[in-house]
Amino acid sequence: MSARPSNDDARLRERFASAVSSAVRADTRARWDARGPRLVDTFRMLYGDAPGVDAALQRMVDGMAACADARPGALRALDAARKRDPAWFLGQDMIGYTTYVDRFGGTLSGVAARVPYLRALGVRYLHLLPFLHARDGDNDGGFAVRDYDAVDPALGDDADLDTLTARLRDAGISLCADLVLNHTADDHRWAQAARRGDPRYRAFYHVFPDRDLPDAYERTLGQVFPQTAPGNFTHVDGLGWVWTTFYGYQWDLDWSNPEVFVEMALTMLRLVNRGIEAFRLDSTAYLWKRLGTDCMNQPEAHAILQALRAVSDIVAPGVLLKAEAIVPARELPPYFGLRADGAADTDSAGRECHLAYHSTLMAALWVALAEQRGDLLAGVIAQTPALPAASGWLTYLRCHDDIGWNVLREEAAGGDGRAPFDLARVARFFAGDGDESYARGRSFQSAGSEHVHGTNGMAAALAGIDDAIAHGDAAALRAAERRLILLYGIVLACAGLPALYMGDEIALGNDEAYARDPARAGEGRWLHRPAMDWALADAVATRTHDDTTAGRVGAALRRMIAVRRITRGLRGDAPMRALRFDDPALLGIERGDGVIALFNLAGREVAVPVPPSLADARWRDMLDDGRLDDGMPDDGGDSAWPTALAPHALRWLQRA
Ligand code: GLC
Repeated sequence: MSARPSNDDARLRERFASAVSSAVRADTRARWDARGPRLVDTFRMLYGDAPGVDAALQRMVDGMAACADARPGALRALDAARKRDPAWFLGQDMIGYTTYVDRFGGTLSGVAARVPYLRALGVRYLHLLPFLHARDGDNDGGFAVRDYDAVDPALGDDADLDTLTARLRDAGISLCADLVLNHTADDHRWAQAARRGDPRYRAFYHVFPDRDLPDAYERTLGQVFPQTAPGNFTHVDGLGWVWTTFYGYQWDLDWSNPEVFVEMALTMLRLVNRGIEAFRLDSTAYLWKRLGTDCMNQPEAHAILQALRAVSDIVAPGVLLKAEAIVPARELPPYFGLRADGAADTDSAGRECHLAYHSTLMAALWVALAEQRGDLLAGVIAQTPALPAASGWLTYLRCHDDIGWNVLREEAAGGDGRAPFDLARVARFFAGDGDESYARGRSFQSAGSEHVHGTNGMAAALAGIDDAIAHGDAAALRAAERRLILLYGIVLACAGLPALYMGDEIALGNDEAYARDPARAGEGRWLHRPAMDWALADAVATRTHDDTTAGRVGAALRRMIAVRRITRGLRGDAPMRALRFDDPALLGIERGDGVIALFNLAGREVAVPVPPSLADARWRDMLDDGRLDDGMPDDGGDSAWPTALAPHALRWLQRA
């Protein structure tokens, strides 16, 4: 890029700066100077420089200036604070929490009323699943948006959102919202205009008059919902074949149209000015289509994300972008602006997303549990790509989607040098097949027991809690609790920003009732989208339920969160390395400041030899582990490396 702006750039810069009021002009102009020229370059690289493109660019610059000007003072203050501490979201005190508004608080006001609960749990980052005005009827849990500028009337109104964001901000909790970039609902006003034959809006979508191109694309496309929404195109009367990667009512936007970019970028800015501090960029992998490919992770999709990042960095630099790209971790470096091989020698390093879901780790946690193999997690940790400064992983155990097994195909084949495993067997295990299985999940979008796609179920049900309760088996229940605590112990010990999934903190089980509700029965993911049990959650929070499953799990999670909060070595960006053990059941994770976390993934006791490099050290047991599991007496006080770990036990140690 040239050091001096071209005439074009200079014109756009002036256009931008002169539209921002003098009080904020110097700051915003400096941000334009840092990011603007590259934004313009990327835009022209994507869209060329035809007259229509120029007009679109000008419209975007005007919109950016208007939003920069209108940004409320409280949010500007947040921008400034984050500039001073760009890795703020990776502090060891950062805990995420993911939930649907209606399942958690009923409405946005209901969520606001629960802010004290979230605070007491240690939550600093709240991802509320889609709450913008969704399509009537089926809407994929809100992921079919009909109006990005309005709150869903079932959840509240615009004023409620403003109250909630202010309340959260006061509590030090950042609100993360979904920005559904890949598609709109089929009743969005753009889609309606397209249906009416308006050429401007028809060009917002991928529309084909016949099956020729759709068939050509299908030859190399995958399927997200092969059972319930087979194929990637839907026939719409009067329009033709519309690209619909997900459900037929979710129309993929055509991001090769610059107008789409401008509309979505300005949509994002209107939301940031309402106090949304982070975006989960939904389905980012699918934004760009290319014949002969699987139309995922295309270079242009990254250019789009980098341009969106530049837009938010110029107008609202405190805002975080999180990529939802459910692909193997080794394919994620480009979402952080790195090259595909992880190399950082481009000037886009750290200029795409701040965060990305580590779905490889998530799925591997469950495989490791079923197969009783900590070595699989050691492999995943060893192969987790290094990230630029001020970026990190979103680590999690469960979310509102199924556990997609496909991210682990290479590991399953033994491709990481470790013993292979059978994903179909794992999926059957979590679906409760076989005498050995304690799990009560269900396979998702899989045809037959050999075809693997995903698994549904709450963490508690997958770990065996629901089954043990149904059988009234107290010993099995304790074992299941230990498994759930173990998995969260790993998530909380890993590098990244860990997010709890609503209800896991009280071991909430499956919502089996979904299958009797005609509105939800056709979508298996509702199994793990229960309503919060507030009587139980409040009882656990006030410690009146200590001697129950929810109480024990809740206390263990709270304790780990509290210890993490005061341990710098567990910062999200502190180093992480897996230790080597001969017994494949064991997992050891070394973090910063002499922190070592040990986990036994097996249902048998396992001896834990001290790695030679650590033999002379003395250790402090950070979790006072007797309280976290009832498997073994405390073995040696707080200066000993444990000689053995009980079934599914964990230890967090720090060099004394
Ligand atoms: C994301 C969401 C998922 C949704 C899909 C389509 O993957 O997490 O729930 O079905 O996008 O919007």
